[in-house]
Amino acid sequence: MIKDVKDTLLDRRSVRRYEREALAPEDLEFIREAIRNTPTSYNGQQFSVIEVSDQGIKDELAEIVGQKQLKTAALDLCFLSDYNKIRVAAEAKGLKYPPFQDTTDGLMVGVIDASLALMSAVAAANSRGLGCCPIGYARTVNPARVSELLELPDGVFLVCALSIGIPREIPDLKPKQPADLLFFRDKYGVAAMPEKLLAYDREIIKYHETRSENKSGEDWIGQILSYYKEGLTYDMLAALKARGYGMES
Ligand SMILES: Cc1cc2nc3c(=O)[nH]c(=O)nc-3n(C[C@H](O)[C@H](O)[C@H](O)COP(=O)(O)O)c2cc1C
Repeated sequence: MIKDVKDTLLDRRSVRRYEREALAPEDLEFIREAIRNTPTSYNGQQFSVIEVSDQGIKDELAEIVGQKQLKTAALDLCFLSDYNKIRVAAEAKGLKYPPFQDTTDGLMVGVIDASLALMSAVAAANSRGLGCCPIGYARTVNPARVSELLELPDGVFLVCALSIGIPREIPDLKPKQPADLLFFRDKYGVAAMPEKLLAYDREIIKYHETRSENKSGEDWIGQILSYYKEGLTYDMLAALKARGYGMES
């Protein structure tokens, strides 16, 4: 089944339960080609992807990260910011490598490239009727153990993983912020922003109360703030420095 662009983009939701079935080779090939054709900064292609299909490694990744999807998915894609390849290329050509990954912009470039590649994969997988879920916890929960498991070299870190499989569930679509909170006219801002945000918060509470599965009365604002609070405990700077990202400017 191949969906049209509208369904691919607008009927997308994160899918976290999968059939225990391998992906069709042509679907995997299409996902790979979509990833390869991702636009990247300078065409430097500051990213790589590790395809994890070995059940033992998927199990270990799921255990480290604490996300079951990584175990039950047919395939886990690990999207990496990668300055190892360009350094190897420079050395192979006898050129001096400027340590761009030690700058904040270098960090952002690697994250942007890897994230765009992830989105290419999400779109390609969805267009084939596959289900997928980005897993940011693969970056934050235990970067040292994940890097060791995947044998990441210096200059490479995992930005986000993506579990992909044949869907075993079709979760209700999550309501997103209304257009006027998202698209501003000419300059930043919209009238009555607090009221509009509170209205969206009520919409999410209603969605959580009435969705087909995992019902709860959880709000949006409180939930996001509690994620941020958890985020305050991550020492990403130390994790990045351990991966060879110096961030000196
Ligand atoms: C960068 C990124 C990281 C994410 N990390 C996780 C994760 O670790 N675990 C998870 O279950 N979902 C994760 N998600 C999925 C989000 O929870 C999901 O996209 C969001 O709730 C909106 O729902 P939807 O994708 O169904 O529209 C992540 C999504 C993104 C874009």
